[in-house]
Amino acid sequence: MPLPWNPTLSPLMLAPMQGLTNRALRRVYAETVKPDVLFTEFVRVRPRAKVMVAQSDFTEALATSPGIPLIVQVIGCAEEGVVAATRELVERGVEHINVNMGCPFGRMTSVLAGGGMFRSPETVEPMLQELRGIVPGSLSVKTRLGLDDERQLFDILPAFENAGIDFLIVHARTVEQKYKGVANHAITKELVARCSLPLIANGDISGSAQAKQVLEQTGARGLMLGRGAIADPRLFERIRGNAPSEPDAREYKREVAVHLSRLVDAYSEVFCGEGQILAKLRETFAHFQDPALRRWGRKLSKRKQLAGVAEMLAEAVAHSSTRAPAPGLAPP
Ligand SMILES: Cc1cc2nc3c(=O)[nH]c(=O)nc-3n(C[C@H](O)[C@H](O)[C@H](O)COP(=O)(O)O)c2cc1C
Repeated sequence: MPLPWNPTLSPLMLAPMQGLTNRALRRVYAETVKPDVLFTEFVRVRPRAKVMVAQSDFTEALATSPGIPLIVQVIGCAEEGVVAATRELVERGVEHINVNMGCPFGRMTSVLAGGGMFRSPETVEPMLQELRGIVPGSLSVKTRLGLDDERQLFDILPAFENAGIDFLIVHARTVEQKYKGVANHAITKELVARCSLPLIANGDISGSAQAKQVLEQTGARGLMLGRGAIADPRLFERIRGNAPSEPDAREYKREVAVHLSRLVDAYSEVFCGEGQILAKLRETFAHFQDPALRRWGRKLSKRKQLAGVAEMLAEAVAHSSTRAPAPGLAPP
């Protein structure tokens, strides 16, 4: 199966993030910084429903952006009907599927889905084989290093290889770690050496120098960017060398303000009511890393009306810089 990205590239993928990477946010990234691959938030299986995939998830799964492959992520286990749910998605036109085998939260880890698959690794290969039989495009897995043991994934690599998946994405933490500590890319490097599949490295990549270092040191085929790309949407361009590798503080704030203005417009088309749009925006502000931006994000979060947020964003665009706007990030 040809990989869903240009094979001459080290692809930079925007990570699936529940609450964040909805179709509106994906469209803004697709129109500005153009990740090489986009993912949906995970699609939950509704085991007892007549149609196992909710209509809202179909809407998300079919909202593609021209020229950028969209991979639909599913979460669930064989007993819960993840194969039947995937069939529903494929019948509606979905091409690429990714299976979440790393989610550390809630019931996922107790029902052998998400990160819970590490409790029953013997179920992985048969489930992926069934999926391989029905997915017309790429089939991939996104996982972690293990449940509580950083070396557990090594034992499961043959199941991925035997089932014929196309690539593997590894967030280099254990499930039990959740987001604590730091991603261990020394293990990513060992996994790359042991695995015959293209491996995409994920975890804590928030700057261009660090991105290049992870690519060079691990030999990974590409990178997946999550929180770092929410805090700094131009991270894709910085890594590609199309934007300064270290943003100037004033210019950075202006770029983020322009990006957030675009998000406000896109969210207003997709979500109903100011409350929902403000809640979505707050999820973005929560990922700012830079101390000055965090303070600004806290002030933005306190605004109770969208007009107040829009006003603060316009002020930031006007006051931050007199330089010409970066290509693709001109005010909407
Ligand atoms: C708010 C949030 C939601 C997430 N939702 C998902 C998800 O739906 N599916 C998934 O595979 N990973 C999910 N993740 C994990 C990210 O895709 C990624 O693996 C993780 O954040 C590590 O990468 P980063 O350090 O670049 O953020 C989520 C992470 C965050 C912070």
